[in-house]
Amino acid sequence: MPVPMIIDCDPGHDDALAIMLAAADPAVDLLAVTTVAGNQTLEKTTLNALRVCTLAGITDVPVAAGCDRPLVQPLAVADDVHGVTGLDGPRFPEPTVDAVPEHAVDLIQRILQDHPEPVTLVPTAPLTNIALLLTRYPGSAARIREIVLMGGSTGRGNRTPAAEFNIYTDPEAADIVFRSGVPVTMCGLNVTHQALATPEVLARFEGLGTELGDTCAGLLAYFAAAYRRLWGMPHPPLHDPVAVARVIDRSIVGCADANVTVELHGRYTRGATVVDLHRYLDRPVNARVAVTLDADRFWDRMIAAVTVLGSRTAGPAGPEPA
Ligand code: RIB
Ligand code: CA
Repeated sequence: MPVPMIIDCDPGHDDALAIMLAAADPAVDLLAVTTVAGNQTLEKTTLNALRVCTLAGITDVPVAAGCDRPLVQPLAVADDVHGVTGLDGPRFPEPTVDAVPEHAVDLIQRILQDHPEPVTLVPTAPLTNIALLLTRYPGSAARIREIVLMGGSTGRGNRTPAAEFNIYTDPEAADIVFRSGVPVTMCGLNVTHQALATPEVLARFEGLGTELGDTCAGLLAYFAAAYRRLWGMPHPPLHDPVAVARVIDRSIVGCADANVTVELHGRYTRGATVVDLHRYLDRPVNARVAVTLDADRFWDRMIAAVTVLGSRTAGPAGPEPA
């Protein structure tokens, strides 16, 4: 039976592919796409989600906008990585679908209440919406099967030496989620950096011969240029779809149980996920922490999803404009 799932995202190049994977893989039933401020402003991440859904033919899933700023600190977007639109690079059509008027948190709560079985939440962005859900609707926790998030790291950060972007953007929200008692799986940089979009991967997308395949290749090419420029990495890690892959097939993403504590007060370490894999501290296990990735099977599922969606939408990519 497909796993009922909601993705909470901030498209975002990697979020875009995570939405496609969640919408197309037969192992999951995507119930909603919700957006939050993070990579870009809420207005831009929401427009980008609508653009991705339009291009990929995902028109039967509600999109709802959520929080436009973190719980405490000001929003600091990642335009250096994702560009001024949040989805720079390939051209996207203007949306033919619109966001529902409901706030993302209210939509998630309504789905949790109405769905016949507990729902998996997959946040691939700052955790502001999820923290607000758990705070505003305490009973929602019982209707959540698990939270499988992209964020944090067992090692170093990518926004500060110690902190990963999603956690660093809203540490208070992350602290609420990790202390909530809801089953949490953390897919951090240590595992997402095993999902490298090499030239061979880009060639697989281009080889699909569809507009969607070409657009994904274009997104990855833009992302690759950002990672070369900012971190000197030859190939970009495709972070967010790893969290979706964990829901699809647990054997693709291996985990270890650990205590994860979000540092809120360190002068140089605020936003760090302190992952106690070796039980140095007497703190209870509160998360599964992803540590391994079967990269071949991950990319096979990612390519299969774009293949399915691309075959449903417009025909083969037309000739390049003169
Ligand atoms: O650190 C990577 C995370 O930050 C990803 O979710 C990416 O989309 C950005 O939001
Ligand atoms: Ca993201």
